[in-house]
Amino acid sequence: GAGLVVAVDGPGGSGKSTVARELARRLGLRYLDTGAMYRAVTQLALERRIDIEDPQAVAELAERAVLSVGTDPDEPTIAVDGTRVDAEIRTRAVTNAVSAIAAVPSVRTRLVAQQRQVIDASRAGGGIVVEGRDIGSVVAPDAQVKVFLTASTEVRALRRSRQLGEKGVDDVARTLAELDRRDALDSTRAADPLAIPDGAIVLDSTAMGVPEVVEEVLRHCGQPT
Ligand code: C5P
Repeated sequence: GAGLVVAVDGPGGSGKSTVARELARRLGLRYLDTGAMYRAVTQLALERRIDIEDPQAVAELAERAVLSVGTDPDEPTIAVDGTRVDAEIRTRAVTNAVSAIAAVPSVRTRLVAQQRQVIDASRAGGGIVVEGRDIGSVVAPDAQVKVFLTASTEVRALRRSRQLGEKGVDDVARTLAELDRRDALDSTRAADPLAIPDGAIVLDSTAMGVPEVVEEVLRHCGQPT
């Protein structure tokens, strides 16, 4: 068959990754974290001391970098030029720099092309759950199921802060400010901004747990739950 493609979009801290991975497991599909790909280019730029505000320099770097992704929902992996960078891409430095990299049109063109290849390759095996910012709108507008997951800024910041192992209110405030800034950059950039795609199911996880969100999406996938 053509395979099932489930697009999961939304801002940072909305619970996308947890939901998308669980959906992939439950549906027996592959899983692609497109944010990890933008993070990997960012990590490389920081490591090479490239000026992240210089689109030309960033574009040249992205042109040469070879990304490889593993799409097992139980153990997603990412490598740059053959070196695994799964932990390195999750640092605060990368998180705060990634929106600048993701705003460069030629970086997006390149990564979107690779994402479509991964999606096409997954079709024979049944399909894939893909998470990001522009999956339902740009990468896979033909996805059979589109989900836009959101949550209040406060709840998203609290979740992020907890993931980072922070405890103080100052830490939460700082994380909230950083999240706000990243949302603003991702939503207002000219190339493929974060937006609710046509036909998406919009779910607010502020008061919903992961299991409820997953059950709701599975119903839209025609799965008995
Ligand atoms: O989902 P995650 O927080 O890992 O994404 C990191 C960043 O990558 C986002 O803030 C955004 O700038 C960029 N991104 C994007 N398009 C995607 C996925 C992520 O621009 N499809």
